[in-house]
Amino acid sequence: MRKPLIVGNWKMYKTITEAVDYVDQIKDALPDPEQEEVELAVPTLFLESLVEHTRGTNLKIVAENCFYQDEGAFTGETSPLALRELGIKHVIIGHSERRRLFYEDDATINKKVHAALSAGICPILCVDETMKRKQEHDRIVWVVSQVISGLQGVKESELSRVTIAYEPSWAIGSGNEAATPQEANEGCYLIRQTIAHLYNDEVANQVRILYGGSVNLSNIKTLMQKDDIDGVLIGRASLDATTFLEMVNYQ
Ligand code: G3P
Repeated sequence: MRKPLIVGNWKMYKTITEAVDYVDQIKDALPDPEQEEVELAVPTLFLESLVEHTRGTNLKIVAENCFYQDEGAFTGETSPLALRELGIKHVIIGHSERRRLFYEDDATINKKVHAALSAGICPILCVDETMKRKQEHDRIVWVVSQVISGLQGVKESELSRVTIAYEPSWAIGSGNEAATPQEANEGCYLIRQTIAHLYNDEVANQVRILYGGSVNLSNIKTLMQKDDIDGVLIGRASLDATTFLEMVNYQ
């Protein structure tokens, strides 16, 4: 049985003061990590203080991105090794905003997956699906190709440390509707079948696959009841501490 994983993704919001206040509001009211894991992806500048501030609690802090080298002349980038030394366990890689706004291609994202694994941290590999691909009915080819390229060269023994997030960009952000639970499950199922084809059924059934895209209080429970959805990646709805706390206690 795959343990549920709920991840809030703050993207580039809040100040460090608001971040510490938010964490103080929720850190002692989270579910038992044996039943459900709760993580917050926060801006890089907040990582060190929030890791310290959440030490000994059921809340884990996640990085939103990393570079594909541990060190070097890469102005402004974040080393995966430095993230591990901070005590970071998970890093989001290949979010649709990184692909769309910062032109990260499949090859770059695959290098980042390997760099995270080599540094001893666990990638949350995001798989996008644009409205164009959906309308042109080639979403399957598009989603499958991102899983194949993202996992290129990843050993079967490393797969247990990889989480994948199906994040159709047509469902992300204000003004967009979430995928229906059926659509979301279909996307996660497609990813799981692709992993089964690349490796085998056993490891495919162990990998946690999350859904992201307008997850909120009204749809989280139905989404989490779907067979191939093992968790969610929450953007806007994670920005409010009370809402996020209600969502992680959806059961
Ligand atoms: O990583 C999750 C994010 O892209 C979803 O954003 O605001 O649609 O929940 P939102």
